[in-house]
Amino acid sequence: MTNSIKSKIVGTGRYHPKKIYTNDDLTSMMDTSDEWIRERTGIKKRHIIDLEAKEYPSFMAQKATEQALEMANMDRNEIDLILYSITYSEMSFPNTASLTQLALGITNKCPCLDINAACTGWAYGLELVDLYLKSGRYKNILLIGCDVPSSFLDWEDRNTAVLFGDGCGAMIFQGVENSSEEHDIHLTKLACDATHAMNLALMTGGIRNPITKEILDAKKYPQTLHMDGKVIFKNAVKTMTDLASSILDKMNLNQEQIDWLVPHQANIRIIEAIARRFDFPMEKVITNIEDYGNTSSATIPTAFDEAVRSGKIQRGNKILFTSFGSGLTSAAGLITY
Ligand code: ACO
Repeated sequence: MTNSIKSKIVGTGRYHPKKIYTNDDLTSMMDTSDEWIRERTGIKKRHIIDLEAKEYPSFMAQKATEQALEMANMDRNEIDLILYSITYSEMSFPNTASLTQLALGITNKCPCLDINAACTGWAYGLELVDLYLKSGRYKNILLIGCDVPSSFLDWEDRNTAVLFGDGCGAMIFQGVENSSEEHDIHLTKLACDATHAMNLALMTGGIRNPITKEILDAKKYPQTLHMDGKVIFKNAVKTMTDLASSILDKMNLNQEQIDWLVPHQANIRIIEAIARRFDFPMEKVITNIEDYGNTSSATIPTAFDEAVRSGKIQRGNKILFTSFGSGLTSAAGLITY
């Protein structure tokens, strides 16, 4: 390890599909109401991909990355590794990172790797970014967090369909030697408790339960999300709070020394419960769930990009993130922007 290298976020970007489903739009598909969704989840609308317009994950990543490259003032061929977090990939193979290299027109043959840790995938990727940069192996890493839950939702199931939306966030990280600035990924902590693996799962479509003719003939969405909402809610609050607290303990910091908390956005009530338990003021919590729903891997990088572009997050700010997803995977970490 070359300890003189620090990890720096040099560019961020995001893309949300053009088509929007408001809560009122959902009332024509299932038995729900705008009032219930807003009160129980904090969500007002979500963006949904248009397959006919080829709004694929690689296209979304291309658009988000072009913004990040512009912010970083970087040529696309300077990217020397693409990490792509996605739960349900664009194709079975090749991986979505490779398709993104193609979409971006990167010709330097940089390695391309997908990460699947569901909603926590972006945060898992962040640890890889830090280790790779500090080893000196790579210089400029593109980390994408993108998901398209609309492709595996049952649009008649009010218990799940109201919660999610599609989106994509891109971040470019650079390894900077002997930097006098504070920017860095200071600490990341990853975990997984597989005892609840089946409480949040997409059961069909893989090797274990392939899609059959019967499923297709039933003309329902062939692969739809199974979720035990109450189990997930409880575990999400406890795990995200505990992990965030352990980061502060390890770094010997208190809540007042943190400028922003960027949590995974699954439900505003989960986020508020974390803030309460963690004794953290909601004014310093970045949220975007109201406009986008739970975009899984994309929630943290898109919320981060919005906050950077609106001027909330400034250079030198200390940012704590905490995340949670199917697996049940979880992660937290501390960055100075
Ligand atoms: N519209 C109207 N009524 C509804 C809806 C809806 N969309 N959904 C449920 N209800 C009804 C239920 O049927 C129930 O009615 P009943 O009392 O007559 O039986 C009532 O509302 C209450 O339902 P609950 O399930 O108790 O509602 P709860 O307050 O627990 O909220 C929710 C449900 C929003 C799913 C919550 O449990 C939750 O957010 N869980 C975590 C979800 C999550 O985070 N998932 C993904 C995390 S990881 C990742 O991002 C992949």
